[in-house]
Amino acid sequence: MASKLKIQVNGLNHGVSASLDTPLLYVLHNELHLHGPRFGCGLAQCGACSVLLDGKEIRSCVTPVAAVSGKQVTTLEGLPGLWAKERGTSAASPQLHPLQQAWIDVQVPHCGYCQNGMMIQAADLLATTKKPTEDQIRTAMNGHLCRCGTYPRILTAIQQAATVIAKGGA
Ligand code: FES
Ligand code: FES
Repeated sequence: MASKLKIQVNGLNHGVSASLDTPLLYVLHNELHLHGPRFGCGLAQCGACSVLLDGKEIRSCVTPVAAVSGKQVTTLEGLPGLWAKERGTSAASPQLHPLQQAWIDVQVPHCGYCQNGMMIQAADLLATTKKPTEDQIRTAMNGHLCRCGTYPRILTAIQQAATVIAKGGA
């Protein structure tokens, strides 16, 4: 049976109507029309559906929507706003998050299906580890699968973003 729930996504409050055990991913897609997170395996195995929950990466395909009540969900679409908040600048016309810009600069994606999860996981990493070593990056990204083999470019992009973030966005 559907319940009325309030969830906070990308800094905005939303009233949604869903069963308490509906996967968060379905609510993001079907009610909020946020399609950054992708449906891949549906089993918490691939990472395509990742979002940040209070800043930590979670798999939205296996997270019941009721579990995010009272917490902050950030999707790929919310990374520019998160970056604006970190820098103390206006969220009205936010810039791309350094990870998103690095992904463009390095031309990381091939088919693109996995890339949402890669950027979300990298955002989690860089929030706590400002200058990650190559080994730390590899370990952090270990649970995300890319069938196109873009791993080397992902590593380069994360290192570029880390440098930009360390300079405060310069
Ligand atoms: S779709 Fe959620 S981990 Fe694969
Ligand atoms: S770019 Fe195709 S799955 Fe990663």
